[in-house]
Amino acid sequence: MAISDPMTAPGLRWGVLAPGGIAHRFAHEIPKFTRSQIVAVGSRDLGRAQKFVETTQIGGGVRPYGSYEGLVADPGVEAVYIASPHSEHYAHARLALEAGKHILVEKSFTLNAAQAQTIFMMAAQRRLFVMEAMWSRFLPHYQVLREIVASGEIGQVNSIVGVHAQSLNMDPHWRLMNPALGGGALLDLGVYPLSLIHWLWGLPQRIKVTGALTSTGVDLRESISMWYGDRLAVAYADMGAAGKNSLQIVGSNGRLEIPDWFYTPQNLVVTSGTGQQRVVATRVEGGFQYQVAEMARCLAAGMYESPIMSWAHTVEVMQLMDEVRRQLGVVYPIER
Ligand SMILES: NC(=O)c1ccc[n+]([C@@H]2O[C@H](COP(=O)([O-])OP(=O)(O)OC[C@H]3O[C@@H](n4cnc5c(N)ncnc54)[C@H](OP(=O)(O)O)[C@@H]3O)[C@@H](O)[C@H]2O)c1
Repeated sequence: MAISDPMTAPGLRWGVLAPGGIAHRFAHEIPKFTRSQIVAVGSRDLGRAQKFVETTQIGGGVRPYGSYEGLVADPGVEAVYIASPHSEHYAHARLALEAGKHILVEKSFTLNAAQAQTIFMMAAQRRLFVMEAMWSRFLPHYQVLREIVASGEIGQVNSIVGVHAQSLNMDPHWRLMNPALGGGALLDLGVYPLSLIHWLWGLPQRIKVTGALTSTGVDLRESISMWYGDRLAVAYADMGAAGKNSLQIVGSNGRLEIPDWFYTPQNLVVTSGTGQQRVVATRVEGGFQYQVAEMARCLAAGMYESPIMSWAHTVEVMQLMDEVRRQLGVVYPIER
């Protein structure tokens, strides 16, 4: 499959909302690998916005704002990248849509499915583009993976196992430990295998979750088993263990594997029923450029939703995560 070079997509003028960890990566990759530019940055603190412009070296003309309201009011900004904690996505997405901006919202899209549905309704009414920044889905190896599965090369796929385990900062004051900020392994890590499984197989008929919580009341780790008839998918997420982050898609006639960090740019390994292996070279530099190119292409075509990362997909994955939390007993403060 030919994957279009992100450099061939039209450019957009971006505003970055919330210049934290992941926004730095966005600022590094987007000017380098796309025709888009970052033209403004908004922080809750003007000094942090200015520092972001300096440290990322995105250019002297970038306008720093000491409020998100200032950023979304900038008439030169066409699209806003929302990179705040999960708990804030809903309010920040609304703010940007009300200001008439297209938005790319970091994963997990919102705290729950109800919030996601409201955002998509607002976008539809205003004819504005919205997409969850599930960047992996646009990477070349994900596209090739789906093609191999559909081709029947590994036979009928009967099981999928995706692991996302990282040893993250367990300071009780850190966002991942804080229920008010949508902390926990699920929304940061588990969303990757869940979203991939959902992309391949849709919603399961049954779901069974086991896991453990932190002393602060968010999910530390969980194993999510999902049945599709007699086929089984398992997503494992853990924020207190340095895992390999592998993916295995096992069919009646072979298997497809991504041995490490499956959701980042990688090669694929296909093993036939007789044990013969071939490596499919799909690794690319960067990674965030593909989602930005997709958004620019959709907008140029007059579309407000990407068919690759549709609104319905985001809502259904949020519904899955709502069910995972229900079974684990994780309730965020605003849901009480
Ligand atoms: N795609 C990926 O590979 C990837 C990787 C990591 C994280 N993420 C996602 O990106 C989002 C942000 O994660 P991150 O790791 O970049 O977080 P982070 O480093 O903590 O940065 C988040 C930023 O949000 C702003 N903010 C607004 N309201 C806040 C509040 N109430 N509490 C704390 N910060 C607040 C802060 O910036 P100002 O105060 O300066 O405005 C802060 O720097 C999450 O949704 C996460 O899941 C994606």
